[in-house]
Amino acid sequence: MTDILVVDDDENMRTALCEALVRGGYSVDSAADADTGLRKIEVEKYRMVVSDIRMPRKSGMELLSDIKQSHPDISVVLVTAYGTVDTAVEAMRKGADDYLLKPFSADVLDKVVQRVLNGGAQADSAKAAPQRPSPAFKKPTSKERKIVTQNKKMLELLDMAERTAASKASVLIQGESGTGKELLARFIHQKSDRADGPFVAINCAALPETLLESELFGYEKGAFTGAAARKIGKFELADGGTILLDEITEMDINLQAKLLRVIQEKEVDRVGGSASVPVNVRVIATSNRKLEDAIRQGRFREDLYFRLNVIPLVIPSLRERPEDIGLLADYFLKKFSGDSGKQVSSIAPQTADALKKYAWNGNIRELENVMERAVLLCRGDMVMPGDLFLPSLPDTAQPVAAPEQQATGGTVEDMERKLIVGTLEKAGNNRTRAAEMLGISIRTLRNKLNTYKLESKGA
Ligand SMILES: Nc1ncnc2c1ncn2[C@@H]1O[C@H](COP(=O)(O)OP(=O)(O)OP(=O)(O)O)[C@@H](O)[C@H]1O
Ligand SMILES: [Mg+2]
Repeated sequence: MTDILVVDDDENMRTALCEALVRGGYSVDSAADADTGLRKIEVEKYRMVVSDIRMPRKSGMELLSDIKQSHPDISVVLVTAYGTVDTAVEAMRKGADDYLLKPFSADVLDKVVQRVLNGGAQADSAKAAPQRPSPAFKKPTSKERKIVTQNKKMLELLDMAERTAASKASVLIQGESGTGKELLARFIHQKSDRADGPFVAINCAALPETLLESELFGYEKGAFTGAAARKIGKFELADGGTILLDEITEMDINLQAKLLRVIQEKEVDRVGGSASVPVNVRVIATSNRKLEDAIRQGRFREDLYFRLNVIPLVIPSLRERPEDIGLLADYFLKKFSGDSGKQVSSIAPQTADALKKYAWNGNIRELENVMERAVLLCRGDMVMPGDLFLPSLPDTAQPVAAPEQQATGGTVEDMERKLIVGTLEKAGNNRTRAAEMLGISIRTLRNKLNTYKLESKGA
């Protein structure tokens, strides 16, 4: 039995790691790439693997997956470059026992190795199903959908939402990205007498016009090439319940006319169908930009707006309700530490200050993501400011002008790529918000993400 296998393609790093570990009293072996490492694991028993993430051919992340599948009892610690926290988070999610951010001292290395090996030894006897990822890194499964707030405007809004839930009237929910529009829509559905019926959501920004039409209204067999069988649309699926039309301003103007007809006549026409199908559906629409602007620009039908806006609900941004920041942070802390089995019990006062000062352009979703990451990365039982990994921005709500990107040199593509990555970060990885900040449509943003092979998560 050897204690630790070090995997790193960089010879200097590999040697340094091995030496430090040997000095720490461990027996150590090493490999220059992931496949060699895997072969070694087949013939020798190791308690732990310390591997670099960035390696040619097979990455440390892939090595991690392989080890967790074939040898779930071996602990894995991944080494990642400073500033790539998202990669570290991903590694933890995939079952890594811990991570090391480069550069690190021998002291830190020793602490991490000790903790992982000790934790591992204790967990060994208790481990019922070693195949499963350790509970600490499971995605939160909590189904709870509580609307947490102590803001007066929000409380009034909730009151209004509850009172109108009973009616059949359409509802329009406006608010910036991540303010909780979908959450409120579900709340209304649950408080209505349709609560036992279906709740069907569709994002109007996600599909091109023709696809969106057949998604909404369905089609008959043979309606067009490729329509091999009848497809039931979302409106019919939502019969007896609620349909949520997310980002309604992104809907094409031609389709808006068809939607208006469905709402007025309470029946849908399947594409390629001859008879209308009656439906009993409550419509809730959301929009994160001013619908009035879209109307002025001729991109949104005024008659549809009046139809939808029977009950207007506008959710204030998180900036407009600072008293909710601490409350929500505590709520998410409990939720994620409960879900993850990790004992993170409080937020340090300096951390609470930092949370208060931050602009929260991505609103509650951004706060939720930040707290999830903080719980995951937190080393003690208290969240410290460093665990938040907030970009140190002046707390303005201004769109980014990204002056730091205006340095000479580098290609235009390069700069655009950087700008997109930076904006996504500032928008709390919210694509709709990022597109807004960049002044481009969400479709354009999506295309650019594809072109640059960027993922909005972890890019
Ligand atoms: N008041 C709140 N209390 C607890 N959780 C909240 C609250 N508001 C929002 N959330 C959580 O924040 C996240 C974002 O909310 P939601 O998806 O409803 O926002 P949205 O306005 O629909 O965003 P988008 O415009 O990006 O679609 C969700 O995980 C939701 O549960
Ligand atoms: Mg939404």
